[in-house]
Formats: sequence, C-alpha cells, structure tokens
Amino acid sequence: MGYKEQIQLDRIPRHVAIIMDGNGRWAKRQGLARMFGHRRGVETVHNITEVAAELGVSYLTLYAFSTENWNRPKEEVDALMALLVDTIVKETPTLMKNNIRLQAIGDLARLPKVTYDKFLSCIEQTSGNTGLVLVIALSYSARWEIIRSTQMIAEAVKEGKMLVEDINEEVVSSYLTTSDIPDPDLLIRTSGELRISNFLLWQLAYAELYFTDCLWPEFTNEEFYHAIVDYQHRERRFGKTSEQIR
Ligand code: FPP
Repeated sequence: MGYKEQIQLDRIPRHVAIIMDGNGRWAKRQGLARMFGHRRGVETVHNITEVAAELGVSYLTLYAFSTENWNRPKEEVDALMALLVDTIVKETPTLMKNNIRLQAIGDLARLPKVTYDKFLSCIEQTSGNTGLVLVIALSYSARWEIIRSTQMIAEAVKEGKMLVEDINEEVVSSYLTTSDIPDPDLLIRTSGELRISNFLLWQLAYAELYFTDCLWPEFTNEEFYHAIVDYQHRERRFGKTSEQIR
C-alpha cells in the first residue's frame, strides 16, 4: 500500500512548514551548476503545493531565502531573485486555479524592487482565494523576527500603550510576522541536515519534526505523504502526560 492510502484525512496537519534543502548538492551530483538545482527545486515547490492543497492542508510555509542567504556569492543571489520573480509570474495562474492565497514573511524591504513588486502583486491578486495559504519565507530569519517584535513591543511600552506586565505569549505571537498564521504542526527538512537553521524558532515550539535524506529536487509527492503518515503516528502531548490527552 502506498503512503497516500495510509493517510487519515480527518487528521491532516493544519500547518506544514518546510526547509527545502539540498538543491546545490543535487546539481553537483549531476555535474550541473547550482542554479539547475534551484530550478528543479521550483518544480518540487509546484508539486508539493498542489498536493498539500489537495489534501486539505490549510497553511504551507516554505523557507525560500534566509537572511543568511544574502551572504552567498552575488551571482547566486541575483539568479535566485530572478528565479523567484519568474516563478511567481508563471505560477500566479496556478495559484488562482487552485484557490491558493499567497503570503510572504521576512524582511521584504531588502528584496530587489522587481522581486518585491511581483510578490506584492501576486499577494494582492490571490488575496480573495479561500483554499490553502502558501506562505513564502523570504529574507527571513527567526532571530531577525524576534528582534523586530521585541523592538515594537518596547516601543509600545515606551509610548504607554502597554504595561510590561501585559506582555504574554499572545502578545509576543501577535507581534511576529506570523501573527495571523497558526503555529506549524509539522516541520519537514530535506537533505539529511538535522537543524532548524533560524527558521520559525518561536512558532515551532510544539511542532513535530521530520527529517529525510532526500534532496529537495528529488522530494516526491510520495515523500510528502510519507511525512504526513509519520506525523499521524506520533502522539502530540504539548507537555501533558499520555493519560491526560486520551
Ligand atoms: C536550499 O538548497 C535551497 C534554497 C536556499 C533556495 C530554495 C529556493 C527555491 C527552491 C525556489 C523557491 C521558489 C518559490 C517560489 C518558493 P541549497 O542551495 O542550500 O542546497 P545545498 O545545501 O545542497 O547547497
């Protein structure tokens, strides 16, 4: 039996977050330049977005470009930005067809103007869609986000809009870039690295973690179903005992 048939449709994770890793290594193994890996990676993004929507996942967050990725060679950064623009332009009709709403989190002000404009226009165009919310993390890092929210909270206290005693989990969550997005239930990371790499540090507090050796360009729909089945076999306790949650 394939993994798809093993999925319990009434227990689909509401929010799946993915660290898409291994494009460069995949390309190198084929004797190709790194960008070929990123281009193949976009095909995986297309496929996984479609199957996530089909399964009824509500939020899919993809780590497309980290704050640290700005330190890659300029040629790769420029090529990645161009690929993002091409992809967004090419895929907007697919998003419309599948009732998918695009959102972006991260320090978008750092993006080249054309990348920023294309993302914004796609976000606007898809804003009325009611199916899957596809969240692209772009120029994102969790520490950047936490510093930014701390500054905003400090500002609110300084201006007398909030008391120090009022700061609680809800308040902190509401100042993060994900304020309107529930925390991820499942985090997938490809390519065998066992790290979180500055991704959604606050929001992943209770997420189930799934690591696979598979490189992102080779991450098939079947691999995605496998991750969902694995997730469904776990017992999520949120700090409670097994007896309490039964
Ligand atoms: C990780 O592989 C991948 C990235 C840093 C970029 C991923 C971006 C895409 C697949 C394009 C996404 C497009 C949209 C629209 C979301 P790596 O380069 O770190 O691989 P390596 O670890 O093998 O070098």
